Amino acid sequence: MFTRLREDIATIRERDPAARSAWEVLTCYPGLHALIFHRFAHACWRANRRWLARFASQFGRFMTGIEIHPGATIGRRVFIDHGMGVVIGETAEIGDDCYLYHQVTLGVRGASSGKRHPTIGNNVIIGAGAKVLGPITVGDNARVGANSVVLDPVPADTTVVGMPARPVDRKLPRSTTPHFDPYGMPCDDSLDPLVRDLEGLRAELTEVEARVARLAAAQARQRQDEQSMPAGE
Ligand SMILES: CC(C)(COP(=O)(O)OP(=O)(O)OC[C@H]1O[C@@H](n2cnc3c(N)ncnc32)[C@H](O)[C@@H]1OP(=O)(O)O)[C@@H](O)C(=O)NCCC(=O)NCCS
Repeated sequence: MFTRLREDIATIRERDPAARSAWEVLTCYPGLHALIFHRFAHACWRANRRWLARFASQFGRFMTGIEIHPGATIGRRVFIDHGMGVVIGETAEIGDDCYLYHQVTLGVRGASSGKRHPTIGNNVIIGAGAKVLGPITVGDNARVGANSVVLDPVPADTTVVGMPARPVDRKLPRSTTPHFDPYGMPCDDSLDPLVRDLEGLRAELTEVEARVARLAAAQARQRQDEQSMPAGE
């Protein structure tokens, strides 16, 4: 139990730049508290102590704002960031190294029995407010955009966004080791920060140039229309 707790604290410190010490993480991260409550509730659930399991889960919800059904299976080093409003259903399964933001729902799509909640692979990021519904699978290293509604299976290494969620064009580079992109954004750490800033400025300049060109063209068209209009009209 303490090994898992130490691992969870290390994961949060590694992933959240705002986490300054292990003590701060232990005392101020509801995502961590929710997992501690869930481990107890899940053990009760497996031992067939169903009422105690539900009670522990509801108490955890009361304390953290994160509702995890005691039957849900959650892997290692999962980080629920901010957490408020997260709902994880009974037959949901979450792999290792996943990152969930606040108001994520892993829920049922319609009334059904048996396996009715999603299965999330390893190293998946689910953005704030996203809903993943039904017994679908979200593949390893996939990313779900904030506020997306996912109704279909998501292949591994894919980013999906929107309502209903659709893959964005590019495929993510396949990674063999767990790799974390803060806020789901790919970042190239090999770039010098100054070079990165310059690249950003260059992109902005290109955009401004394109806008100026569009405005100049519109103005020229307007002038041409005015000149071609017969005098007196
Ligand atoms: C989905 C996500 C991971 C994509 O990041 P990315 O790989 O950098 O992708 P881009 O920003 O280049 O976006 C790709 C396309 O998807 C669109 N898109 C990105 N996120 C979207 C979202 N949540 N909903 C709808 N469309 C979205 C972009 O507009 C872009 O569309 P375009 O190609 O037509 O221009 C990221 O946008 C996201 O939602 N991360 C979660 C962040 C979060 O929850 N933060 C909470 C912090 S408290």
